[in-house]
Amino acid sequence: MKGRWIVFEGLDGAGTTTQVKLLESSLRGLLGDQALIRSTAEPTHGPFGEICRQALKGQISLDRRTLALAFTTDRCQHVFSEGGIEATLDSGGWILQDRYLHSTLAYQDGPDRDWLEALHSIFPRPDLLFFIDTPIAECLSRIRSRGQDQELFEREEVLRSVQAAYQRILEKESVTHRVEILDGTQPAGSLHRQVLERIQSHFHPAG
Ligand code: TYD
Repeated sequence: MKGRWIVFEGLDGAGTTTQVKLLESSLRGLLGDQALIRSTAEPTHGPFGEICRQALKGQISLDRRTLALAFTTDRCQHVFSEGGIEATLDSGGWILQDRYLHSTLAYQDGPDRDWLEALHSIFPRPDLLFFIDTPIAECLSRIRSRGQDQELFEREEVLRSVQAAYQRILEKESVTHRVEILDGTQPAGSLHRQVLERIQSHFHPAG
């Protein structure tokens, strides 16, 4: 049996990480201890993901194409390596994921768009993609309230172009894949209930 793969996307501060955590705990309750449920994120904590994180923190400076390749290489390992996403799905597991290729297509969008899309043609798509649509001002205020150092893309003008790129990507993906757009201004608990409802209607996980 093949498992289910659910990905959350959104701007920095949109609330994807919280939703992955809430979903993991609800699914464990619904599916029981025997179910294989794995939460994961990109960039990963593998070697290429660490390079991405260093670039995000400004500890190393990478050319934009090099950074796009670093995110994509990290993803390649995440999906295709032994014990990776593909293998987990093949053994019937659930993958709940914070960010995937849509992040590269949105954040690294620009003059290299065709090249990036071609690079991503080999990657499988998730069974369901949630986009948490949170206004930029709200995202920035949440990021500020975390009190951490500002990362590479956590600036208003950058998030504006990322948001436009996401819109284009979501439109395109929704022609061939399941995409659900959720209002990210709702409290985390209400958002989570909607996530569960949409999952129930797509996959009936408990029945
Ligand atoms: P985020 O998901 O918020 O992770 P953390 O909570 O660990 O900071 O941040 C990851 C950042 O990386 C975010 O700004 C989006 C960016 N990113 C890309 O630019 N391209 C990608 O392919 C991915 C996966 C992330």
